[in-house]
Amino acid sequence: MIVLGIETSCDETGLALYDSKPWERGEPAYLGILGQALHSQIEMHQDYGGVVPELASRDHIRRVIPLLNKTLSEAQCSLEHIDAIAYTQGPGLAGALLVGSAFANALAVSLDKPLIGVHHLEGHLLSPLLADASQKRPEFPFIALLVSGGHTQLMLVKGIGQYELLGETFDDAAGEAFDKTAKLLGLDYPGGAALSKLAEGGKPGRFELPRPMLHSGDLDFSFSGLKTAVLNQVRKAEACSALDEQFCNDIAYAFVESLVEVLSQKAMSALDMTGCRDLVLAGGVGANRQLRAALTRMTQEKGLAVHYPPLQLCTDNGVMIAFAGALRLLLDHTSPPNLFGGFDVKPRWELNSQG
Ligand code: KG4
Ligand code: ZN
Repeated sequence: MIVLGIETSCDETGLALYDSKPWERGEPAYLGILGQALHSQIEMHQDYGGVVPELASRDHIRRVIPLLNKTLSEAQCSLEHIDAIAYTQGPGLAGALLVGSAFANALAVSLDKPLIGVHHLEGHLLSPLLADASQKRPEFPFIALLVSGGHTQLMLVKGIGQYELLGETFDDAAGEAFDKTAKLLGLDYPGGAALSKLAEGGKPGRFELPRPMLHSGDLDFSFSGLKTAVLNQVRKAEACSALDEQFCNDIAYAFVESLVEVLSQKAMSALDMTGCRDLVLAGGVGANRQLRAALTRMTQEKGLAVHYPPLQLCTDNGVMIAFAGALRLLLDHTSPPNLFGGFDVKPRWELNSQG
């Protein structure tokens, strides 16, 4: 089965073709990626310090057909080779989702192929299953730590479509905390990766920031106070003209240290509480080096395993949607296309409500 994946939930237009044969044969699933194309709108939104929804939708419209053609030509396929069409149905920006949904519905009707509406976070959390030959795949049930610009959740994954929410953030998502803190230090949006880089030049111990909810006894998070703690230090430094490069590196170090400690300790508690032996890290913040290092060390110490998606698949992309769509298709989870009754997008959609 060859599945086309279409991702347009936010500021990346991603398309990919995934062939489920290697997965069905138990071969490395990454062998099934036939072609992919991605366009990031980051530069377009940078002047505004965040994603402008209307600009995002219009850009998806401009990009989606050229990206499909690029994907088909990389895969050396034509439209007739496509067996099913998967698209991000939610959550995300309503207008941006509508572009992907309209495109997917139109293709499904004209090609007379099944349609699969994929939950964006399911795409992220299943992407570590696209492991290469050198890695062992996580086995169900496993714990997923989902850390993106919009979400921070710990999820018990019992199987495809069987997700139990164990804990989540009450306020800022981890990526949002990274981006807002990066902005305080004058970095461009989205500043997560740049802030992490600053932290590499920081001196340990100069600043001690709070570890929000570390000892709350549950698996929930709160990161808005952490950003405020950084803001207070920035104001103090400004008042005495000490906001120099070393200050930025040192405060970035303290921020990353605190956030990583809370995320990794809670992920370890989730493994402990459920008895799961596999941890999966997913979402844009899953590209973070310090978080990966901490999780690798802590799981190794306990004889447990942590799995990461390939680095280029951490942030939004079409491959994860094509792959999740293919796994859903194997379970026969498809829906009929709907060209005339409006497009069924779900800007707000809980992952644990999945069937
Ligand atoms: O999953 P994603 O691409 O989009 C959403 O679904 O939100 O995640 C984007 C988030 C942004 O907040 C970005 O700053 C963050 O992931 N991010 C990082 C890194 N790379 C991306 N945060 C920390 N360290 C990184 N290396
Ligand atoms: Zn995402």
